[in-house]
Amino acid sequence: MNKLTFKDILKNFEPFPKKDFRNLKDLKKISKFTLLSKDGKKYDIRNNLNNLSGSEWTYFLNSVEVTNYPVKGENSFLHNIRKQHPSPKPPQLLKKIIEFFSKEGDWILDPFMGVGGTLIGASLAKRNAVGIDINPKYLKIYNEVCDKLKLKKQISINEDARNIPFIFKNYEEFFDLILTDPPYANMMAKIRTGEKAKKKGKYKTPFSNSKKDIGNLSYFDYLKELKNIIAGTLPFLKPKGHLIIFCKDLQPNDTHHNMLHADITSKLLELPKLKFRGYKIWYDKSQKLYPFGYPFKYVSNQLHQFILIFQKE
Ligand SMILES: C[S@@+](CC[C@H](N)C(=O)[O-])C[C@H]1O[C@@H](n2cnc3c(N)ncnc32)[C@H](O)[C@@H]1O
Repeated sequence: MNKLTFKDILKNFEPFPKKDFRNLKDLKKISKFTLLSKDGKKYDIRNNLNNLSGSEWTYFLNSVEVTNYPVKGENSFLHNIRKQHPSPKPPQLLKKIIEFFSKEGDWILDPFMGVGGTLIGASLAKRNAVGIDINPKYLKIYNEVCDKLKLKKQISINEDARNIPFIFKNYEEFFDLILTDPPYANMMAKIRTGEKAKKKGKYKTPFSNSKKDIGNLSYFDYLKELKNIIAGTLPFLKPKGHLIIFCKDLQPNDTHHNMLHADITSKLLELPKLKFRGYKIWYDKSQKLYPFGYPFKYVSNQLHQFILIFQKE
């Protein structure tokens, strides 16, 4: 860490204030549990999770999220700079998830922040966030993007996520949400083959060459290490808080199905305090199709990712 303790870092940080739908002006009570706002939205007073109305809540429950966010121009949140990272996430999608699983002014932790999809999404949704990444280059890019977009900078820490128990010592149950997009086992550290290699080059695009980068571990070592990191992170999540993990399956081989979403879920459920609440599938329409396997065998174009949703008991 930058030699500063988390307490010192917090002293210099101006957080977004807490805001709840109950603070809205001119709310009318129309039944035992229902409040009606001036613009016709209905809120349930028992909702302690988010600031959404009933219909906004229902809209989010669609298990498939289809997006086609621009990767150029004003609404791309400087994708052209963020794409120096091999797999930046769209901040607009992260904002949506954050708005369901937290309230304004809540605190979010991303132990694998990359160039800050979660942190930018948090700023757009007026939540506070702390991001960690082992590669200092990605933090620099995140800070450059915030400067250029004139966006509030969240707290970014250049560290190994294994050190989370030391970084946040004395801040147990501080975070309302853990939202992260870890490496998908060693997917990015593999050399490209077939059609993709022809178009994009044969090289691999690991996040770093560091041995501490969990994207450089073999599949099963990765699962063990991810579980250890999450175990070290959970004490800092409030009870009932959610842990949300993005992941993408690897192509199957003769020895294993490589459904990473299923393996991560099974592995994390070995942790006593976690419950699995289900997943959303994210289909990114901006991705291209490749004729993998043609004309010999079926090889799927995985244009979707899983958003795995856990909750701390
Ligand atoms: C899939 S990327 C995250 C991308 C991010 N969502 C974004 O929008 O840019 C995973 C990140 O995990 C980081 N990482 C890998 N091992 C790590 C570790 N042990 N501690 C912290 N970060 C790590 C990598 O450097 C990489 O940036």
